[in-house]
Amino acid sequence: GTTAALIPAAGDGTRLGLGPKAMVTVGGLSLLARSVAALAPYVDEVLVALPEGLTPPPGLAARAIVGGATRQDSVLRLLRATAADTVLIHDAARPFVPPQVVGALLEAVPETGAASVALPVADTLVRAGPGETWGEGVPRAGLWAVQTPQGFRRALLLRAHEAAVADGYAATDDAGLIARQGGRVRLVRGDARLFKVTTPGDLALARALAPVWDA
Ligand code: CTP
Ligand code: MG
Repeated sequence: GTTAALIPAAGDGTRLGLGPKAMVTVGGLSLLARSVAALAPYVDEVLVALPEGLTPPPGLAARAIVGGATRQDSVLRLLRATAADTVLIHDAARPFVPPQVVGALLEAVPETGAASVALPVADTLVRAGPGETWGEGVPRAGLWAVQTPQGFRRALLLRAHEAAVADGYAATDDAGLIARQGGRVRLVRGDARLFKVTTPGDLALARALAPVWDA
């Protein structure tokens, strides 16, 4: 069957504060260009969702559509814009994608039709109490932090998205929509370098890593 990489890149980048985040550059390349280049070798086509009014950057090796008001809506639009049997969904905001991780993910998808990259949590976890004080400790055993890429049989994920819309259910990722429907999602061990560029501190990390990554 055919495989497509779907890259939601339509966010405002409010927390970073440098305009549409996908266009922010790290080591001379935009976050979007890095994500596209990382996945292109594994797929038959790459689709990206961009903010309304933003023209696709020249030379972008991907088909561009207009995204929605939320990440979930942008992904749904991407799902409807491809006919591929298998889709890899990846945040443009995660520019460093180790090739072994993509390979392991693609191997895992056929088992249940859904797989996500994730990392066992290493930090102590606490729920904050009133006034940003230490509230209740949260045992971290068995907890994984979810990253992207995530891989799915497209028809399966499309049904899960349509059910979420019907129920008014909001999610921050796609695998969660499958799990919510009772579907099994395989967890594939991710990588610290797959961190999401969300805050100025993350951008500093990304800019420090880029020369090492590109070498
Ligand atoms: N995204 C999208 N469409 C939206 C919102 C987000 O395609 N309406 C994408 C972002 O472009 C990003 C990914 O979803 O690649 C993860 O979102 P996030 O890190 O939250 O990015 P932003 O929404 O741009 O950042 P912020 O929440 O700080 O505004
Ligand atoms: Mg956001």
